[in-house]
Amino acid sequence: MTKQVKIVEVGPRDGLQNEVPVTLEHKVALINSLSKTGLSVIESGSFVSPKWVPQMAGSAEIYALINQINGINYPALTPNMQGYELAKQAGVKEVAIFGAASESFSQKNINCSIAESLQRFEPIMQQAKLDGIKVRGYVSCVLGCPYEGDIDVSKVAEVAKTLYDMGCYEISLGDTIGVGTPAKAQAMLAEVAKQVPIEHLAVHFHDTYGQALANIYACLQLGVSVVDSAVAGLGGCPYAKGASGNVATEDVVYMLNGLNIEHGVDLTKLAQAGANICKALGKTTNSKVATALLS
Ligand code: HMG
Ligand code: MG
Repeated sequence: MTKQVKIVEVGPRDGLQNEVPVTLEHKVALINSLSKTGLSVIESGSFVSPKWVPQMAGSAEIYALINQINGINYPALTPNMQGYELAKQAGVKEVAIFGAASESFSQKNINCSIAESLQRFEPIMQQAKLDGIKVRGYVSCVLGCPYEGDIDVSKVAEVAKTLYDMGCYEISLGDTIGVGTPAKAQAMLAEVAKQVPIEHLAVHFHDTYGQALANIYACLQLGVSVVDSAVAGLGGCPYAKGASGNVATEDVVYMLNGLNIEHGVDLTKLAQAGANICKALGKTTNSKVATALLS
């Protein structure tokens, strides 16, 4: 198992995109407090259509207002060139493109087929190379789709390899609706790792069925060393009724502590950041660890 894990905090984006809208001030306060926890990556915005995802409107303002700390990456999602240009204008230094291993999900999420989405990403990759902007790639529905059910692992591997070959430095494998279990997660990861070196893979679990930590542990056993998570387990999925947010970062940190795996994150500060955003949202945390620590 790896001795060190990079945590990619996605709460301000994947989390807040699926919560009731919060004010710009609350978003900025969340990102600024996460910046003081030791996290090295905080996904902070999304340059998508505000008609599709109103919660992410105002991402440019976020980048103008947050205190960006040297050594921390603050990536943003960009589905097309329009989003890429807006992100660049906002001073974003790292972007993420997002595709899917399911045709139906691709249509519902970004209004195009998988093949069309990959074509749309080409000019982003070319421009980002010229601009010196790093690009991360996501593959959604790697362990199941709300419309198609089971997804063939070979399709996941194919899309992941395409994104990697296009120049994405890291590919995040998303269990978008949180239906995976450890053996399935391992089988999927093993298949993808035949195409993309495991050090360039990340795992991204939603916790709908309470399997996310077990899935992460199973993937750590195969050598993965990048884990996406959201403070307080924020979020959900608009396309899957009852779907939970990402695995809570506090819970991941607590598990990594128990495994003596380095991650650099201060759990107390993290739990406090989670408590503050939950207060702003008027909800209780989805993190068991935060509940235990703060009660
Ligand atoms: P479309 O309607 O096909 O786009 O949407 P279009 O090019 O035909 O443009 C239509 C309108 O959208 C135009 O405006 C454009 O200007 C505008 P109008 O003329 O009607 O006023 N538009 C934009 N506005 C702002 N920023 C842009 C942009 N592009 C077009 N970038 C589009 C295609 C991709 C834009 C749309 O489907 C969309 O925004 N989808 C967002 C989907 C999304 O954000 N999903 C959540 C993130 S993915 C995720 O959460 C999964 C992940 O966490 C991993 C996992 O868990 O698996 C990453
Ligand atoms: Mg997600």
